[in-house]
Amino acid sequence: MKLGRLNHIGVATPDLDASIAFYRDVMGASDITMPFVLESQQVRVCFVNTPGENGAAGTQIELLQPTAPDSAVGKWLEKNPLGGQHHICFEVPDIYAAKAWFEGQGKHVLGEPRIGAHGTPIIFVHPKDMGGMLTEIMEKPKPGNMHHG
Ligand code: CO
Repeated sequence: MKLGRLNHIGVATPDLDASIAFYRDVMGASDITMPFVLESQQVRVCFVNTPGENGAAGTQIELLQPTAPDSAVGKWLEKNPLGGQHHICFEVPDIYAAKAWFEGQGKHVLGEPRIGAHGTPIIFVHPKDMGGMLTEIMEKPKPGNMHHG
């Protein structure tokens, strides 16, 4: 497998609207997408786009607020009530090849590939096998099929 671009850093928050205000007013972000609910992961999501340079794509902060306390992000927030960095996400060309690659090394892939917040297939790899970081792997969006929520 060849590692692709760092697509986003997932940040959990108990209050999405307060986090949006923080990135806008304290961090000076000027490009924040409209929040939407991703039912499959029981989260309300939006993206803070950071600008790229020299024509390169920037990266994103993915803000996640759980829609249910017993969801994965809800349980995580119980242990981390302020919120904070929840996962990191890298792009790969082919999600099934990536899944086989990680499993071939004994890494625990959490579930089957499913459609993530960017509209492309994703998997998560367990933090205990990834240096303590929950790692999302997403199939790189195809040109002309960009999904900004
Ligand atoms: Co993510």
